Amino acid sequence: MKNYDSIRHVRGESHFIDDIPYLDGTLYGYVYYSPIAHGKILQLDFSEALNSPGVKTVLSAKDIPGQNQIGGIIQDENLFADEHIHFIGHPIAMVVADTYLHAHDASKKIKSVFEKLPPILDPRVAAFKNELIIPPRKFELGNVDSVWNDCDYIIEGRADSGGQEHLYLETQGSLAMPTEYGGVKIFSATQAPTAVQRTIANVLGIPMHKIEVDVQRLGGGFGGKEDQATAWACMASLAAFKLKTPVKLILNRQDDIRLTGKRHPYSSDYKIGLTKDGKILGYEATFYQNAGAAADLSPAILDRTLFHCTNTYFIPNLRAIGLSCRTNIAPNTAFRGFGGPQGMFVIESAIYKAAHVMGIDPAEIQKINLLKEGDEFPFGQKTFNCNAVKCYDELNERYPFEKIYQEIDGFNSKNNLVKKGAAVIPICFGISFTTTFLNQASALVHIYTDGSVNISTAAVEMGQGVNAKMKRIAARTLSIDESRIKVESTNTSRVSNTSPTAASKGTDLNGFAVIDACNILNERLRKVAAQEFNEEDASKISFKNEKVFYEGEPTTLTFSELVKKTYMKRVSLTAQAHHSTPEIHFDTKTNKGNPFAYHVYGTAIIQVTLDCLRGIYEFDSVKVVHDFGETFHEVIDLGQAEGGIVQGIGWMTCEELKWDRDGKLLTDALSTYKIPDIHAVPKEMKIHFLENSPNDFGPLRSKAIGEPPFMYGIGAYFALANAMKAFKPNLEIDFVAPLTPEKVLLTLYNK
Ligand code: MTE
Ligand code: MOS
Repeated sequence: MKNYDSIRHVRGESHFIDDIPYLDGTLYGYVYYSPIAHGKILQLDFSEALNSPGVKTVLSAKDIPGQNQIGGIIQDENLFADEHIHFIGHPIAMVVADTYLHAHDASKKIKSVFEKLPPILDPRVAAFKNELIIPPRKFELGNVDSVWNDCDYIIEGRADSGGQEHLYLETQGSLAMPTEYGGVKIFSATQAPTAVQRTIANVLGIPMHKIEVDVQRLGGGFGGKEDQATAWACMASLAAFKLKTPVKLILNRQDDIRLTGKRHPYSSDYKIGLTKDGKILGYEATFYQNAGAAADLSPAILDRTLFHCTNTYFIPNLRAIGLSCRTNIAPNTAFRGFGGPQGMFVIESAIYKAAHVMGIDPAEIQKINLLKEGDEFPFGQKTFNCNAVKCYDELNERYPFEKIYQEIDGFNSKNNLVKKGAAVIPICFGISFTTTFLNQASALVHIYTDGSVNISTAAVEMGQGVNAKMKRIAARTLSIDESRIKVESTNTSRVSNTSPTAASKGTDLNGFAVIDACNILNERLRKVAAQEFNEEDASKISFKNEKVFYEGEPTTLTFSELVKKTYMKRVSLTAQAHHSTPEIHFDTKTNKGNPFAYHVYGTAIIQVTLDCLRGIYEFDSVKVVHDFGETFHEVIDLGQAEGGIVQGIGWMTCEELKWDRDGKLLTDALSTYKIPDIHAVPKEMKIHFLENSPNDFGPLRSKAIGEPPFMYGIGAYFALANAMKAFKPNLEIDFVAPLTPEKVLLTLYNK
């Protein structure tokens, strides 16, 4: 995929936090963190560290002028631990020195004495002890208690999915510098510039207008920098504020993995009831979310688990309960899909298990329960422009499932030690922040007198291509060439009160704001052009390919000339616009409403080949029909789909987080945590754009693309399960993800 930044990236010319040119006097921070998972600090002695070479200061809770509080949804997280320790990696202090190595070395000389308490690591144990972040959440539809008698099959079980390390290429980091009037300017690798600004203001005890947050781009975020970039920005700012000199704080890879939260592991129970034809009548599920030591975004993520617990199926009777369980690991956080994938894995496990009890193909159950137009979701919203069946049928037409199964059966009957498997996975994902007020954005557009254009929005570029999309949207709206347009960094002094770039809503929200701002400018330009032609009705003017048209006919007036004339007439060439998603609402008491602007649909079939002697496997293909709406940037959309699928496969297969009994993360390096590499990418990826799916709720009639394709990866689990069953037909699948090669092997040969 080629993004307009690609060339600079590969040449190493793009600036990430650590590339910002060195400022005289810059100091470096290193975070000193807890080596125990749960307990109390009895003694802290910084004296030796303070006498270490190059050390300027050591900052801890007592040095905070404002509040020692960084919790977003719930105020339950200190910047530096007070006396209580809640996880290994819990920040206690920051050493500031003239070099990174001096700061790092000095941190080893901090002396601390702890009183250890037993840690809780299992979310079910936490729930049993009533260690909940918020009261239980419950979504209900129909009457599930009365439906079981009508079912021919009732299947119960458990399904667990593991966490996932974000492993963005750029680790967490910030560079803060003091400004006049006691403020701070901060370069932060964050998806949420305003949250960083607000939290720094709170920690320093100064107003938000004294803090300017600037984000050029992130070397990946994937949700990991939605809430969790804030702490490091606050620490760097605190030091810059106190020492009146620039301070850089960048986590090294291992610290980043240890100190930050990940995708939430979930453990879940379910009960599903079906008729003999495979119609799902009832579904009950309880989700135990491993939230870690603080709320972070867990409540919102738990809600999305419930919003997506029926995936893309209509289930008339349902009760889904979500428990956000407090444990002694780093607070878990947003990760592509935001809890949705964890909910969808459970219903897919239930369907798979039911199909095997009933002796049918899971795809048969999937197919007959697909959402249709007007079906109700468990949260009261009804589908519209529902493309679930369309995507499924089109995929089946392009790649007849029966034929694929036959080929696989043929292969499997001839091969004893190598087996193939396939699985179909339909998906559905709701687009909007489920926290309704976040669905707003704004844009600031300047046209300069030379006809070049500068756009600022609330969107943060993190590799997903949002800047390229903003550029294209502005170019189309102003009818000019993309080369005229530059997308600026995301900056809280230029665009205020931003929502995080998340929930796949970056393009939608900011794109609409850009369209509105450009249309304001178009309106002014049209008026000036009309005057040129002594025309009173400005609506007779239009623009196309940098040219001014009058009554539909091209004139000799060009965009750049018109811009100059507009300036000479003292008409503003700057416009600002704000956009908020219309008509969405959600009542968190009844858990009913219309939380999503629209849904994205699609279906994939994933094929795998398993070496049953060694437990290793390769994905042969992923074939997809995906609902992109009307794409206006095909390469970026394809890149997002491919990247999402590979990341989803990684979550279900090779990526495994392990903690020891003391709560220490054992997989804290790339030598012990395996992410998908080029060999793990399916050998064939065929992604088809569903045709005829214009979306009135997306800019240029597009649909959001950032997260939904991730969920096709869930099919990888079931394709592998099928290959395993081909080797050992009576094998019991345990529905515990990931299915690492090690796990596959142990399962195949476990008596
Ligand atoms: N793609 C890349 N290359 N890097 C990222 O960090 N983040 C994902 C997705 N795709 C991410 C990515 C996540 S979690 C989200 S919510 C969306 O991009 C956010 O961007 P959008 O709203 O502009 O789609
Ligand atoms: Mo994405 S998990 O919403 O940042």
